[in-house]
Amino acid sequence: MKQRENFGSKLGIIMATAGSALGLGNIYRFPCEAGANGGGAFLIVYLAVALLVGTTLMLSEFIIGRRSRSNPIGAFRALEGKKNGWMAIGWLGVVCAFLILAFYTTVAGWTLGYLGKAAANHFEGQDLAQIQVQFSSFTTHPWLPIVCQLAFLALTAVVVARGVKDGIEKWSKILMPLLLVIMVVLCIKSLTLPGASQGMSFFFKPDFSKINGDVLISALGQSFFSLSIGMGALITYGSYIGAKDNMVSSSVSVVLADTLVAILAGIIIFPAAFSFGIKPEAGASLVFTTLPMVFQQMTGGYFFCLIFFVLLVIATLTSTISLLEVIVAATTEEMHLSRTKAAILGTVVTAVIGLLATLSFRTGSPLHINGKIFFDLLDSVTALYLMPLGGLFIVLFVGWRMKKADAIDELTNGGTLRIGIRKVIYYLIRYMAPVAILVIFISQLLQ
Ligand code: TRP
Repeated sequence: MKQRENFGSKLGIIMATAGSALGLGNIYRFPCEAGANGGGAFLIVYLAVALLVGTTLMLSEFIIGRRSRSNPIGAFRALEGKKNGWMAIGWLGVVCAFLILAFYTTVAGWTLGYLGKAAANHFEGQDLAQIQVQFSSFTTHPWLPIVCQLAFLALTAVVVARGVKDGIEKWSKILMPLLLVIMVVLCIKSLTLPGASQGMSFFFKPDFSKINGDVLISALGQSFFSLSIGMGALITYGSYIGAKDNMVSSSVSVVLADTLVAILAGIIIFPAAFSFGIKPEAGASLVFTTLPMVFQQMTGGYFFCLIFFVLLVIATLTSTISLLEVIVAATTEEMHLSRTKAAILGTVVTAVIGLLATLSFRTGSPLHINGKIFFDLLDSVTALYLMPLGGLFIVLFVGWRMKKADAIDELTNGGTLRIGIRKVIYYLIRYMAPVAILVIFISQLLQ
């Protein structure tokens, strides 16, 4: 049997999983979703779902991954055999990885483009209208966003082809803490802008009357997206976790860190957006217009802006790596391709779908389906349907299909770890998580 790689250390799993979790989901998608879904009302549902359902689902994926030591498709085969339908969950995850990576790299490309703009000092002295025009002319430019997207994909492929240990761990360990520091600096700046308090009350004062099926499913989808759960990315990472590592404390740490970064992003974006007169519902442009405006107001803004975009590109890269890793682990193990060939194949297929997502931002582009641009379609199909569905079956699998003793054995590393709440965790996986996902899923369908 061939030797599978493992993460090198306990810090390695936390950092690699955090690297997967932290990314555009926190800094770009979270403010967009919170802005579109009533601010505080969204935040409160998000916190409940991420902390409760998110942690239990993350643990369930780790349990499946470490127990089977396999990619999401092979994992269900290893634990269940080929006959019953569970392997479909693995396939669904791999399809999901392609679809997410395709539209994720659109925005990843923008971050690369904005890094270029930051370096070339394109924001200094520009007013809001000019910054808004910069965003729309960049995203609808005939070739620039495509070149940026392809460059980003290529960068991802190079790291993934080199393997988990060198590639993923090394990057995440050093740079993620640095991102946190710069975000705190940005929060302070944003909070001291005139009119910031309006943004704070938008983000932190929940208007409970705004909570409806749409807000619930958006929060669920956002928490799955942000934590990289519901499609097997963490089954894949779980398969690299060592036998002695504590999965419970690792997942709690990652969920807390991810939630913290999302909240920090909200504290940066909303006060500043209200202060500059940018609407919280502005969607795609919200983050890419608010941030340059904030940097412009800061002493040393050029420098901070540059570092911020360097770190954002890297945070994004550790997320695209985890998505491509799902595809590569599945194709190397299921189709017996080499890592390099698998990385190239995965990248080419993603690039084709991804180009359509990027092109769909052009005005008059024919890439509209049901009144939605192709980019938004990929985003909502994955976050609102495929990931909740995948997540539901993953928790059902661990809670109902696996033997209780096996699940607890994984949680406690064969009984060597003293985890007082192991039974509570098990019952949260068995009852709370599936019920919560189902209720939210159905409440949206009924609306
Ligand atoms: N969680 C990442 C973010 O917030 C994106 C991501 C990486 C992801 N891997 C994933 C999302 C797997 C869903 C599934 O930016």
